[in-house]
Amino acid sequence: MNKKTLKIGIVGLGSVGQGVIKILQDNSELIKKKTNTDIQIIGICAKDKNKKRDIAIHKYKWFDNPKSLAEDKSLDVLIELIGGEDGIALEVVESAISSNKHVITANKALLAKHGNYLFGLAEKNKVTILYEAAVAGAIPIIKTLRESTASNDISALYGILNGTCNYILTSMERDSITFDEALEKAKELGFAEADPTFDIEGYDAAHKLSILASVSFSQSIAFNDISIQGIKNISLDDILAAKDYGYKIKLLGIAKKNYNKLTQNVRPCLVPSESQLAKIDWEKNAVVIKGGFFGELTLSGPGAGRLPTASAVFGDIFDIINETNYPSLGTPLSNLSENISSDNYNEKARFYLRFLLPDVSGTMASITNIMAKNNISIDDITQRISKKMFKQNLVPITIITSTTDFVSINKAVEDINKNNYSPISPNIIIIED
Ligand SMILES: NC(=O)c1ccc[n+]([C@@H]2O[C@H](COP(=O)([O-])OP(=O)(O)OC[C@H]3O[C@@H](n4cnc5c(N)ncnc54)[C@H](OP(=O)(O)O)[C@@H]3O)[C@@H](O)[C@H]2O)c1
Repeated sequence: MNKKTLKIGIVGLGSVGQGVIKILQDNSELIKKKTNTDIQIIGICAKDKNKKRDIAIHKYKWFDNPKSLAEDKSLDVLIELIGGEDGIALEVVESAISSNKHVITANKALLAKHGNYLFGLAEKNKVTILYEAAVAGAIPIIKTLRESTASNDISALYGILNGTCNYILTSMERDSITFDEALEKAKELGFAEADPTFDIEGYDAAHKLSILASVSFSQSIAFNDISIQGIKNISLDDILAAKDYGYKIKLLGIAKKNYNKLTQNVRPCLVPSESQLAKIDWEKNAVVIKGGFFGELTLSGPGAGRLPTASAVFGDIFDIINETNYPSLGTPLSNLSENISSDNYNEKARFYLRFLLPDVSGTMASITNIMAKNNISIDDITQRISKKMFKQNLVPITIITSTTDFVSINKAVEDINKNNYSPISPNIIIIED
């Protein structure tokens, strides 16, 4: 077998970009042996040429303009590791595809927003876009869905897709600390960005879910159809009450198919403490897939980080070398459904509610009456102790409902708020039994 050569260019030399170079430097012999290919970096590019990097890059040709690298005649594959849903990342990817280069990217924000357009452009130019590193870091979830489980009708997918949120929720539970304290700790240890908005408000998980849902359910990427709720409102009281009930709170990305309609949600959920997902702690990620022939499959591992993410980039490089040529979204673009999304209103589940009620007799009875009027049965109602709330003469009450739906829950809460029974709207968290 003749030895091949693959010429790659890397734009973005931050955490992941440097990881890609490091893996190639450290494991070049192994990679050569496995692929029979000499992978050559023909150019690199980042914003600041003079920035101190953690690895030696002086032997690679520097490009000041990332688009020049993307369009370079000798290039086979452009690896985009800049990030951002628009701007230079989009321009570079467009340039590479239009110049008939394959693209590998770790940029979920870009694909969530422009994926349908970019995959179409790639098909027109007979090149491929691969993106394993964009979802759940080192976990080979795209390959699993696109290849190994492709003969199954997937019914649901549940993912812990954001390491920052999982770290914060785990830290609150294990160390009995508040959300703000856990966030500070996550920042100190490098598990949260200085501005963590994208993570804690659920957008990062939603970007990943939009891609997973497309590959799992053969529909175009539909980021705007995802209902997104982050973890900012989760208090230590919620974490402790959930634990008391035998649950943990996790931020889940969930896509479920029901009668050919798809619901997509990113939201905090109560999951049973004994479930697989409850055991995924700290910054780890996991995805559970439910399919016709295999039942249930769980993949877990590091969802981010320099080398784990770069290792997923190499999975894509190997695919290009081996010319695997699977459709990027698992289904040929012309066979993807346009939009099968639906809202959550009919979704049936049990719910956890935490009220802060004035310490006045009869209030609890009024709440249970309103629940009954809205046909909601109560499985458990518990009065809890909170020193902080005691000072404000408020009593935390937690309720676990029987199976009901969002319409009934929302109507009950509206009635409770209208009657001023509770000065603060309750925290409502769905239970994923
Ligand atoms: N970090 C992770 O663990 C992880 C995990 C999964 C996916 N991802 C995704 O991987 C991508 C890269 O993430 P990262 O953490 O490596 O980001 P990063 O550390 O912030 O690095 C970004 C790189 O882009 C370069 N850059 C910025 N603007 C540029 C421009 N106009 N022209 C050329 N280069 C430019 C920066 O240059 P300078 O270095 O000169 O400033 C830097 O090297 C993102 O899409 C991210 O979502 C990251």
